[in-house]
Amino acid sequence: MRKKVIFITGASGEVGHALIRHLAEDGGNELLTMDLRPLPEDIHPFVLEHVVGNLLDHILLARIVTQYEIDAIYHLAALLSTSSEFTPDIAHQVNVEGTLGLLRLAAEQSQWRNRPIQFIFPSSIAVYGMPQIAQSKGLYQRVREWEWNQPRTMYGCNKLYCEMLGNYFGHHYRQLAVERPVMLDFRAVRFPGLISAFTVPTGGTSDYAPEMLHAAAQGKPYACFVRESTRIPFMAMPDAAHALLQLAHAPQESLTKSVYNVRAFSLTAGEIRERVLAAFPQARITFEVDEKRQAIVDSWPADLDDSSAQQDWGWQARYEVNRSFEEYLIPNISRRYAG
Ligand code: SER
Repeated sequence: MRKKVIFITGASGEVGHALIRHLAEDGGNELLTMDLRPLPEDIHPFVLEHVVGNLLDHILLARIVTQYEIDAIYHLAALLSTSSEFTPDIAHQVNVEGTLGLLRLAAEQSQWRNRPIQFIFPSSIAVYGMPQIAQSKGLYQRVREWEWNQPRTMYGCNKLYCEMLGNYFGHHYRQLAVERPVMLDFRAVRFPGLISAFTVPTGGTSDYAPEMLHAAAQGKPYACFVRESTRIPFMAMPDAAHALLQLAHAPQESLTKSVYNVRAFSLTAGEIRERVLAAFPQARITFEVDEKRQAIVDSWPADLDDSSAQQDWGWQARYEVNRSFEEYLIPNISRRYAG
């Protein structure tokens, strides 16, 4: 008998680190994880098997399917926005072809099992592209899902297209076939910039917020690569894991969309600096603007409208800005580097 599992790609990354704990706490979930890297030791005990391998390796995926019955997929593996600009072809392969391969796998499994396999997909604020900061970003503060979908990064294009592919596989796949196959159950959230107390991101463009905090806690100077006035939404990592799980648990009939914005708080880089300085008064934080990365962040909205997520599946961030800093970020980051 094949064992029933939840399959998590990109499991060794930041979101994986938080999600695996949450899924384990949720109870009754056997987790099969995959990443190019080994799994961090502290989350190993929560996982049945970790596969070190490449998402684009079809033979490896086929082996996984022969061994396990996949009940749900959390597809976290991706190259983030700054990294993707350096290697756009590779970004496209990983972010789009990797996702397409997994969607196919989930579609096949849905047919074999005669029930929809759930496919949970973290998308991003990077799907938005707002032209010229003063006219659009200033005027349209809380952007809704269908507005400004003109990304200026490869990563944003990849995420937007994969949302569409997911919706296609969830509703219209093989629409001309004599018998309609069972569709997979695709659900996505668009995350703002994420900040974890336990991990530091690599290759993103919202990374200045977590980098500032982690540098301050270690007594290292930090030069922020965007202007003080730059505003985008952020979310503490426990809320990100919670959003994925809450969306996965929502009854399908209550969902009116396949892609939902989620938000927690919106801060300027200067406001983040103030909060970091309040906790670490010795911190040396300066601003050395990288105009190219600045332009990317300027194309992202100042905040997101998440009213659909609130209405359809009861989304509400548990960590608003004060709780994020005072209860989650500052104490955990301080402890992390104290020893
Ligand atoms: N944090 C991501 C990045 O900066 C945005 O979703 O690429």
